[in-house]
Order: sequence, then structure tokens, then C-alpha cells
Amino acid sequence: MNTKIIGLLILNVQVASLLAQNPLLIPDTLSGSSINLTLQNGTFSFFSGQNTTTMGVNGDILGPTLILKKDNFVDITVNNQLSETTTIHWHGMHVSAANDGGPHTTIEPLELWNPRFTVLDKAGTYWYHPHLHENTNKHVSLGIAGFIIVRDDEEATLDLPRTYGSDDFPLVIQTKDFDINKQIVVPSNSDDVLMVNATIAPYLDVPAQVVRFRLLNGSSQRVFNIGLSGNQTFFQIASDGGLLNKPVVMNRLRMAPGERTEILIDFSDITEQSIQLMSYASELQNGTYGATRPGIGPIMTLNGYDPNPLNGNNFDILKFQVVAPTMNPVLSIPETLADVVPIPEISADITRTLFFTPESMGPNQLNGNFLINGLHFDMDVINYSIPLNNIEIWKITNQSAIAHPFHIHDIQFFVLDRNGVTPPQNELGRKDVILIDPMETVRVITQFTDFANDSVPYMLHCHMLTHEDKGMMLQFEVVDLTTGTRMEQINSGVVSVYPNPVKESNGTLTISGFSSDQVHLELYNMQGQKIIEQKIVTTIEPFTIHLPGNLHGTYLLNISGDKITHTQKIIVK
Ligand code: C2O
Ligand code: CU
Ligand code: CU
Repeated sequence: MNTKIIGLLILNVQVASLLAQNPLLIPDTLSGSSINLTLQNGTFSFFSGQNTTTMGVNGDILGPTLILKKDNFVDITVNNQLSETTTIHWHGMHVSAANDGGPHTTIEPLELWNPRFTVLDKAGTYWYHPHLHENTNKHVSLGIAGFIIVRDDEEATLDLPRTYGSDDFPLVIQTKDFDINKQIVVPSNSDDVLMVNATIAPYLDVPAQVVRFRLLNGSSQRVFNIGLSGNQTFFQIASDGGLLNKPVVMNRLRMAPGERTEILIDFSDITEQSIQLMSYASELQNGTYGATRPGIGPIMTLNGYDPNPLNGNNFDILKFQVVAPTMNPVLSIPETLADVVPIPEISADITRTLFFTPESMGPNQLNGNFLINGLHFDMDVINYSIPLNNIEIWKITNQSAIAHPFHIHDIQFFVLDRNGVTPPQNELGRKDVILIDPMETVRVITQFTDFANDSVPYMLHCHMLTHEDKGMMLQFEVVDLTTGTRMEQINSGVVSVYPNPVKESNGTLTISGFSSDQVHLELYNMQGQKIIEQKIVTTIEPFTIHLPGNLHGTYLLNISGDKITHTQKIIVK
């Protein structure tokens, strides 16, 4: 053999190893009424021969897939063997605030947390992840994230693939940034390593039949524009909160951080031996993390964003290799799925208005903080008190230069419209995250049922974990007012009263947003006795009132004016 041929052979070997595909890791499952999860520090080889410091659940990376049954009770023990405080949140699930695992429900190192609840959710794909304020990105990026698959009788009657790891696969798609020592950098805007189920350059053997994939965008910031190579079509069958009415034929599916979808791919149709799951990121609009420019307009910068081959370029996510079918293959796509009944707009009790703004305007805004209604997250401030069973429209406007995936805990919502236009079929199902583009207004409708709690709030936030950690999050509580004398609470959604809770009697409450010339203000205790009555003739906002001494506990503030009626619970601590 001459040296030229040897050279070529060596070159071939190198190319082959660069393109080497790794078999997709499939997380183990846990099911039953008692589940033990241990949060632990670990090391994992994302790159062969190199160890990366990680965090995982019952292992070094990610966590087991929990398979839960609707209406069944589950008792979970979370054992924190990390060397730091964290929380575990059941994203998308309808559980009480105390079981929700938000930032208030901390688990100290070496401590146990024991949420117990009945599964009320429809069959679907949910997930769990840490939620400690300012640390969510770190704990998720280092590896803590797991799937929750809920099964129910409605889904069980459908002819759908549901054999885990055989014709039904979970796929958590993430990008991370590694330093030269192959350690994860967090936070970072230079996430150039793509992985599925913690596997870089993954492949999966799929049977030549209809196969179901449960997709989760578990990235800190990146939006994917999912598609198949060759523009092959696929079928979306579920959104965040479970099955759609019927399968929707798709060839692109935009997925923002926190979102889940379920899709069916018919591999019996596919004549190629392999096909790629891809992100057609070149088609993402500027003003999306993952597009050529992260902000609208060419000059908007985000530190560390460039250069990154994933931004604005199409890339492969997962290679499917078609193999022989299984014993009992599903061979067709069902005509119909679940009975999803959206909440009619007419039934709404109120509309709340929310808007997103950058803390500082201008071309550098993407590097700063983002605010919701001009506010920054404050652990001690409950931003909304929502009456139990209220049906609410939230009208959310993004006044910033980047798209934000907005998430609400506790509930699933329906999207009414995007900029006044009914959304596409695949967005008409139950959702808990919605990507809101720059200058877009999205209206969603939901109902706050079952769980009221005076002491633990739920979160509403941007699911870009960098934004969330930097305060793009507010909190709401669901209150049951039927025990008080004044039963109805009408929260106008525009009046804000702060601080709430107010830390002492003799304190001062500041009220803004009433925009009426004449306002009648009353404060009641829970026995229905009037504590304060004031008529305000002013156009000047904000307005302050002084609380008398020796108040303690829960009060109702009632504000009525020519343009507004607002009743809200005030807590004096
Ligand atoms: Cu996925 Cu508040 O979180
Ligand atoms: Cu959540
Ligand atoms: Cu955001």
C-alpha cells in the first residue's frame, strides 16, 4: 500500500469517528404509588474519555421517567443528596401549591421532601425539574430533569403506540455550553452542544411502523423548529397538557423551552434507511433565541451568542435507523383522539393584562433583565390573589425584542388568539407554556380549580431559565373566599397594591392603576367589619393609605371607581 492510500484510510477513520453516532440513552421508569427520587451529584461522559461534573436523579444525569395513572394517589420522597438547597417542581401538573415544588418549597441538603397527591391530569407528557430561585438554570443545566408520563382511560382506548422504549420514546432535547475541560458552563449564551437524553450525536433504531415520540425542549433558552429530513410529514397528537382532538399533519413544529409535544412518525412509509429529526433553525424569525439574530433588528446583541453554528442554521437532532417492526405494530394514524373542550371566552370572570418589557431599553436590552408588568420577582410579594374557580383571560403582550416562553403553574390554558387571530390547530389543545413573539399579544383562558392556599403561592414566569433566574417571574395565590363575609373577589388585573403581604400594621399600602377620578376604598376584616373607608378624589397615582395599628391576618380591600371595581385580599403580617 502506498502512503497516499494509508493517508486516505486514516482520514476516513477520523471522519468516521467525528460522525460517530451514539445509541440514544433511554431513561429508566418508575411507577406505582410510592416513588423515591434521590438528587445527587455525579459525573457523566458526554464526550468519550472525559468526565463532566453533573447532577442527576437516581443516577448521574437526568432522572427516571415517572409513569403515573390519572386518579391514582402517589407518595413521592425526594431525598436531597446534593450539597446545596434545591426544589423539585412537577411542571404542568395540577397539584396543590404546597405540592408544586416552587421556589418556596425548598429541600435542604440531606433533607427529604414528601409531596403526596392524587394525579388529576389528563394523559400526557409532563416533566420535573428544580425551581430554586436564581438556581433553576444551574440545576437543570447540570442535569436534573425527568419526564412524567400520565396515562388515563381515555388515552388507553386509542390505538396509539405506548410501549415505552419500544414504540414510544421520550426525547428531551437540550443544548449546553462546555468549557475546554468539558465542564458545563452556566449561565451561558454559547450553548453549541446539542444532545437528546444526554446523548450527543445520537441515533435510535426505530421499527418500521407508527412510532410515538414525547418531545420536551429542556434547554435553558433555545427554541427549536422541529422537522424531519426531506420535509417528511409527521403528526402532532398532543400539546403540553395532553392529547389534541385529532392528529395534526405537520412538517414544522416550533418548540420553546418547557414545552412538550407528542408526535407520531410512520416509519413504514419511509423508504430511506435513515431519517433525521432536525431543527430547521434557519426558518426561525429573528427575535427568537436560536435564530440568526436573537433580537428583532440586525444590531441587537446578546453576549456570547456569536459565533454558534446552531444559530440560524438547520441542524440534525437525532438519527432514526429504521429496523424490523415489532410483534404488534400500530400501523395507522388514528382519525380522532381525545375530547378536548376549550373554555368558552364568554364564561370568563375577568381579563388580566400582563406585559413584558426589558429593564433597560435599547440595543443592549437582551443582556439585561426582563420584567412582567414592570415588576421584578420578589419572594415576599404575592402579585395576584385569584378567587378559587375563577375563569380568567390573561392578555399578555411582549414589548421586548425577544420571544419569551410564558408559563403558568397549577393550570392548563387554552390559547384564544395570537394578535387577534385564532392559533393553528396544533395550538388549540391544553397548554402550560406559550412562546410570545416580540410585539405579539396572546390571550389565553383558564380556570383556577381545586386548590386554594393562603400560604404558598404558584409561579408565573418566562421559561428561558436565564430570564426566570434574573427575576422574570411573579407569583399568584388561589384563595377560597367563600368563608369570608364578602364572597366575591373581583380582581381588575390592573390595580396593584403593594407591599402585599404588608409586614406590619401601622404600615402603608400603595395603590396604583385605578385610573379613575373618584375612588371609593374600603378595607374589611374577614368578619366583614369595615376597618377603613376613604373617598379619594384624585388623578394622582400611586396613592397611599396608612393602616391603623394592631391589624393582623387577612383583610379584603375593595376599590370602586367610575372605571374600576377591584377587590383583593391583603395580608398583614
Ligand atoms: Cu417548568 Cu415554573 O417551571
Ligand atoms: Cu411549571
Ligand atoms: Cu424571557
